[in-house]
Order: sequence, then C-alpha cells, then structure tokens
Amino acid sequence: MVSTDPNILSIFKVIVIVSCFTLVHFMKPGTFYALPQSPQLFKQMLMVSGFDKYYQIARCFRDEDLRADRQPEFTQLDMELAFTPLEDMLSLNEDLIRKVFLDIKGVELPNPFPRLTYAEAMNRYGSDRPDTRFDLELKDVSDIFSDSSFKVFTDALNNGGIIKVLCIPSGAKAFSNTALKKGDIVSEAIKSGAKGLPFLKIQEDGQFEGVPALTSSLDPAKEELFLKRCEAGSGDLILFVVGPTSSVNKTLDRLRLYVANMLGLVDHSKHSILWVTDFPMFEWNDSEQRLEALHHPFTAPNPKDMNDLASARALAYDMVYNGVEIGGGSLRIYRRDVQQKVLEIVAISLEQAEAKFGYLLEALDMGAPPHGGIAYGLDRLVMLLSGSSSIRDVIALPKTTTAQCALTRSPSEVDPQQLRDLSYRLQ
Ligand code: AMO
Repeated sequence: MVSTDPNILSIFKVIVIVSCFTLVHFMKPGTFYALPQSPQLFKQMLMVSGFDKYYQIARCFRDEDLRADRQPEFTQLDMELAFTPLEDMLSLNEDLIRKVFLDIKGVELPNPFPRLTYAEAMNRYGSDRPDTRFDLELKDVSDIFSDSSFKVFTDALNNGGIIKVLCIPSGAKAFSNTALKKGDIVSEAIKSGAKGLPFLKIQEDGQFEGVPALTSSLDPAKEELFLKRCEAGSGDLILFVVGPTSSVNKTLDRLRLYVANMLGLVDHSKHSILWVTDFPMFEWNDSEQRLEALHHPFTAPNPKDMNDLASARALAYDMVYNGVEIGGGSLRIYRRDVQQKVLEIVAISLEQAEAKFGYLLEALDMGAPPHGGIAYGLDRLVMLLSGSSSIRDVIALPKTTTAQCALTRSPSEVDPQQLRDLSYRLQ
C-alpha cells in the first residue's frame, strides 16, 4: 500500500509495513526510514548522554486498528527523567494532571490517585483500563461450579478455562429472555469471542430462572455462597462467560460497558482517574507462538521477580481516565545484560539485537543512569477534556475509521514512474 499523504513528509513516499510506517529513501535505493511510533529510544539515549530531564511534544505514527480514541498520526507529550524513583515519577505526573484538570475544567482530582494492579484490574473489571464511574464488578465462580453437570461449564473447566459472571442489579426485568437469547447483548458477547451467553435470573420470590443444568448445579450451600459472591438478590440478572481467562475477560469487559451504557449506570458527573501498575513484562502471542513485551521491551522488570524473568511484573504504569488510557510509561532497563535477556525472551537474537538496537546496547555499556518516563496521548487528553466522544473531533483533517484522509483521498496509488525513481516494485 502506498500513500501520498501530504501530512507526513512530502519528499518521501510512505509505505505501510506491518505496524509502522516506512519511508523509502530515493538516494539509497532499497533502504528505508521508519516513522517513529514514539521517541522511546531517543529519549533514553538522551538520559545516557547526560540530559537528566527531557520533554517533547512528539508526532507519532502507528499503523493499527482505528478506534474512537486512536489515530494513525497523533501527538504525545513525552517525558523522561533520570534518577527518579517510581513513586516520585507517579506523584510528579499526578501533580501535572491534577493541575491540567483544575485549570482547564475546574475539577479537583483525588490526591493521591487510586491504584490498581494489572491483576486486580483484570480480575475485577476484565480490563487494564477500567471505567470505575460505575460498579458492576466481575466475579470468578469457577470453584462454585467445579462439579456442575452443565456441559458448557465442565468443558470449559476441563480445558483449563474459568467461569466468570457479571451481576446486573435489577437486570431481570431490564433484559427479556428473548433479548438474552438472541438480542444485541448476545451479539456483543459473540463479537468479542464468546460462544454463547448463559444467564440466570433471580425472581422476586428468590427462585432461579435459567438453563436447568445450570440452576440445578447449585445445592443450598453453594447457592448461598454464589449469591454472596455475586452480591446478588431478587430481581437481579447474572450473565455467565466461560472459556480461557483472557477471552472471558475480553467478553465481560465489553458486556460491562454495554450494560452500563444501556441502563444509564455511568455517572457522567464523576471523574474516575487511576493508575494501573504491575503489568506483566510479557504476554503470549498465540499467532506468532512467542512471548511479546506487553508495554515495550525496554521496560524494567520488577527486581523482586528477576528469578523468573518470563513471568516477571514490569515497573510499568498506565494512567486511566474514565476508562481511557491517557498515558503510559515505565522505569527502563539500564543494564546491557538485563536488556539482552529481555530481548532474548521476545525472540530477538543477539545478532538481531545488535543490528536493531546496537546503539542502545552500546550506550548502556557506557554507564546509563537509572531512568524512566511516560507519554500522554495529547489528542486523546484534549478529546476527554473537551467532552468529545471521538478523537477525530479534536484533530484537524483526521483520518477516517478506515484510515483514509477524506480530503486528499490518501492513501492512494502512485505513478509507476515515481516507483521507478525510488527503485521500488510492488509485488
Ligand atoms: P504508549 O504506546 O502507551 O507508550 O503510548 C502513550 C500514549 O499515547 C496515546 N496513544 C495514542 N493516541 C492516539 N492514537 C493512537 N493511535 C495512540 N496510541 C497511543 C495513549 C497512550 O497512553 N514510548 C511509550 C511511552 C513511555 O514508555 O514513556 C509509549 O509510546 O494516550
């Protein structure tokens, strides 16, 4: 795919390769520049070279699925600080964002910001950027149904999966049985990967209504435990999602937001800001059959977890406002041996590491200071501060949801002569 987008750089032609935008250089045929996804390594190099504080308003380019809060070309407020421990990093950034909200919206954000670990956020909300303006917390009930005869449950548990529920207070009347069998709520679950959406309603007299194999799984003791765990009572609706942990969380996150919006449970006068911390260093990429860095491979592992680096927690933090990630950062690796181990885990060989990041590894050899930083999505922040529901509302000439520039019709085909000039051939 070739683009002639005038927003980018007019002297280069832009080619999209995998997830970054790449530029062909006409003076050196066969070589490419990559437009930065972020200035991450450059700011780290600045720390090594002796600048102990840096900030920049940086243009970033990412070729990824577009959503209401994403654009392929966006702006970060990017910062890096040397010799700054994690707590100082968080409190400095809290001060910054508190001031921004106070000056622009007259809103006083809490001091300090609440924190959730990644594990807590995923368990309770199924998301690493939970919107806590409403409750609807998820509950894992796998143990309660461990000897259930409901095949959907036994199959999931036997395959290493889990059973998790979303309890909707007074939901029994809000959703008809037909809606729960073939309405939009089921489509939402299916779209996010679920095979179905078993449910249970608690009638006014306390009786359960739902698939008999499900309701009969609960003897009186288990029923009591189940109701207590779900904090459920008469009139409530309980939705069940089963399967591998990550897909269960993905579905329940989507259902939680859908239900909250549909039933008007979001308190729009609330400002929910929080940190999510302790992300895992790595996650499994099923299609590539390898571990990949959850944040980026320059993030420092928690020193307490060095004995098992592959399952270590990272010294990473995201700032989340009303369910939207407004900023993300981490303390960085500042030793070559640790950096090489991390690159090895994400399947970057020593040779590849030298070829791709040799300059960083060499800089680390020279004695890098401990350092870390964060980047805010500036357009995203402006979207939230202005109460807009789409990032496109706050960007001049934004790309459409299919990543097109509606004005110039970019990306578009180029003249074959232009390709010849660049010694470039389309497959
Ligand atoms: P990260 O990838 O989390 O971190 O990005 C930082 C912030 O940038 C914003 N953002 C976006 N905004 C609009 N459109 C997009 N496509 C888009 N992608 C990201 C988000 C996000 O929180 N180098 C690291 C930062 C660091 O570690 O210091 C980085 O880029 O608000």
